[in-house]
Amino acid sequence: MPKRLYLSSPTMHDGEMEYIKEAFETNWVAPLGANVDGFEQDMEEYLGGGIHAAALSAGTAAVHLAVRLLGVRPGDVVFVSSLTFAASANPITYDGGVPVFIDSDRETWNMDPEALKKAFEKYPSPKAVIVVNLYGTPAKLDELEKICAEHGVPLIEDAAESLGACYKGRQTGTFGLMSILSFNGNKIITTSGGGMLLSRDEELIKKAKFLATQAREKARHYEHKEIGFNYRMSNVVAGIGRGQMQYLDRHIRKKKEIRDQYAEGFRDIPEISLNPYLSNSEPNWWLTCATLSPESPVSPTELMEALERENIESRPIWKPMHMQPVYAENDFIQALPGISVAEDIFLRGVCLPSDIKNTHEDMDRIIRIIRGLFGKNA
Ligand SMILES: Cc1ncc(COP(=O)(O)O)c(C=O)c1O
Repeated sequence: MPKRLYLSSPTMHDGEMEYIKEAFETNWVAPLGANVDGFEQDMEEYLGGGIHAAALSAGTAAVHLAVRLLGVRPGDVVFVSSLTFAASANPITYDGGVPVFIDSDRETWNMDPEALKKAFEKYPSPKAVIVVNLYGTPAKLDELEKICAEHGVPLIEDAAESLGACYKGRQTGTFGLMSILSFNGNKIITTSGGGMLLSRDEELIKKAKFLATQAREKARHYEHKEIGFNYRMSNVVAGIGRGQMQYLDRHIRKKKEIRDQYAEGFRDIPEISLNPYLSNSEPNWWLTCATLSPESPVSPTELMEALERENIESRPIWKPMHMQPVYAENDFIQALPGISVAEDIFLRGVCLPSDIKNTHEDMDRIIRIIRGLFGKNA
């Protein structure tokens, strides 16, 4: 069997163990501690712009706290990108909120500002708008922020996949009222599992930390005036994050090399288009994805199966939320009638192996297999 090549597996270095060792040596393996504070500070410095961070057990927890902080109550509508992972939308329902899904645009695969405008016509007062930067590519953030501001509705930026990507020179994770990050196993940096809630509003982040530690009031005994959660990050896990932060830019550079190699490798195959991005954006290139044109002689499934036969992992595009059985009753808004952009990308798309441990030769092997499917020689 040839060597297994992954979609995007964790890439560890030496620094992480130093921080973990320190946590063990000081017996500070409990939640919170120096690594949590340090990881938050490292992230605040990296993102800049006066951002405050709360390190949490998962990106999903961060989305939930954002929804909770905005006071979503049963029946409240929240707009959210349809083309995303379920964790962008599910936490809305934890507090009884109702996700209304918004279609993608073709230029970024992210929330379409035209569809968002239409959504506001139908639902003038949603509680929030959750915009995802899919696969590490920034959405049309200025336009989306402007529309939200016109309606006085807060924007939550789901930057789970886009840490290190920039929009008009500004880091993703710094847009909207709050942003969220994920550090699960396949992300650009990982803590094995974890997330962060980010905001320029320090009071919101203080409140998030309070809610994430069971909403325990300042008192000698255990006093609770509201419902809280056990959502904080452990000090051991945060140590992995501190070590990984030192390699974030290196990871992004490697991801870009992968993207460039695919672009070069498929240059003469018009049926393959890589996931698009705006010229004012610099993605973090987390996953290189492709759509196959309707004229393509192979389907995305055939392509994935051909790679799997060679022990290479790839993955379908996220199935849009408006197509999920669990959200069958939820509304979906698109700019124009007909097949939605999100569905079209899902049906014609594939996530290509984007693991930064793949060597140039590994990448050549992947590209050779795919080129063969299109009748092209190496
Ligand atoms: C777009 C998006 N939002 C939210 C999440 C949730 O993050 P986590 O897995 O850390 O809970 C993820 C990743 O898993 C994601 O890809």
